[in-house]
Amino acid sequence: MSPEASTLRVQSYWDAHIHDSVIARQEAGTELFFQELAEYHFDKLDYLMRVAGFDRYAGKRVLEVGCGIGIDLVRFARGGARVTGVDLSERAVELAGKNFSYQGLAAQLEVMDGEALKYADSSFDFVYAHGVLQYTPNPERMVSEIRRVLKPGGEALLQVYNRWSWLNALSKITRVDIEHLNAPILRLYSPEEFKRLVSAFASVSIFTERFPVKSRLHRGVMAFFYNSLFVPAFNLIPRIFVKSFGWHLIAKAVK
Ligand SMILES: C[S@@+](CC[C@H](N)C(=O)[O-])C[C@H]1O[C@@H](n2cnc3c(N)ncnc32)[C@H](O)[C@@H]1O
Repeated sequence: MSPEASTLRVQSYWDAHIHDSVIARQEAGTELFFQELAEYHFDKLDYLMRVAGFDRYAGKRVLEVGCGIGIDLVRFARGGARVTGVDLSERAVELAGKNFSYQGLAAQLEVMDGEALKYADSSFDFVYAHGVLQYTPNPERMVSEIRRVLKPGGEALLQVYNRWSWLNALSKITRVDIEHLNAPILRLYSPEEFKRLVSAFASVSIFTERFPVKSRLHRGVMAFFYNSLFVPAFNLIPRIFVKSFGWHLIAKAVK
């Protein structure tokens, strides 16, 4: 398949599967829809408020690659950053625009391939790509673009999925697919593979996050097993023993 064809397949998948919209009860594009998805996002990713640094970039230029409907980008904007968001999905960018206008916040939002950013070298103080590299046809190219548009000394926060994680093991044991397994591209990484992917940065620290919390994704017996048995049992294990097995591998990288 040509590179263009694989990018088009990724684009049309994400146009049709706006991230997390499967749990939405509210009509897409309404103010309540964005509230519902933001609440779900920060419940599920309870580490983000601690790790993302939403308030650290006041007055700075922040780029989010693969911004989806802008849930995280809104937080950077609320923290005073001058924000730009790009996504391959036209539908996601259109919804992100609505999200920002409900919030009364400004953002530059564009449909753009994160593997071919149309920004000059050294344009941004911080680049954020959360849950994006694992879905793009050529992650090496995206990392190289992210590094190119960062100012020297600028930072990137990048998240991919950890192959050696509790969620991947649970999915194999229960035969319940991980989300977006039907996306045209979905890669899992070992910490070593992820380290290699970001090795061009001057310094990188890699760690894992995302441990089990109650989920609205499951129904019936599965919901009972997951929410009432698995989550409390897992969380009895002292974190020190499981800390390498988080579902999200995060790189904090400095150019
Ligand atoms: C799992 S969603 C994550 C959305 C958001 N970052 C979040 O954490 O909620 C993946 C997003 O990455 C976008 N994406 C995938 N490949 C991309 C690319 N090459 N350039 C820009 N966006 C891309 C998809 O369109 C989709 O919106």
